Amino acid sequence: MTVLVLHGVNLNMFGRRDPAQYGTATLDDINAALAALAAELGAGLVTFQTNHEGAMVERIHAALDDGTSAVVINAGAWTHTSHAIADALALLPVPVVEVHMSNVHAREPFRHESVLARVCAGSIAGFGVQSYLLGLRAACALVR
Ligand code: DQA
Repeated sequence: MTVLVLHGVNLNMFGRRDPAQYGTATLDDINAALAALAAELGAGLVTFQTNHEGAMVERIHAALDDGTSAVVINAGAWTHTSHAIADALALLPVPVVEVHMSNVHAREPFRHESVLARVCAGSIAGFGVQSYLLGLRAACALVR
């Protein structure tokens, strides 16, 4: 089993961005925690971050043929806007889990809607780095 974790726009700035919402862990810290948990769960892990929407769409397309068993995605602000990313995720025959570091439902109204939710098995928000780790656990449980 290989889980693809996708990090969207601005998420390379974790650790330097609004610590009250996102804490102080960097994206490298998050990926390291994911790699440790993946090893514990006996799963392979691939991570990808981009600030370019088309690059994200093309990485999702590539997941059709690269052995990806499940996807965990934090699309950042694209969560609330990108029907293009939702349509790309809808192409995949594997489970998709949406995650957010912050509790998007307790923030500005525009963050309350996810246009990706329609193509996701479920979503986890508000637990910081643990949101990703819970998302990885959920993805593995959906595959097994
Ligand atoms: C986020 C929440 C989004 O609303 C925001 O645009 C982000 C990060 C989160 O992880 O809490 O960039 O996805």
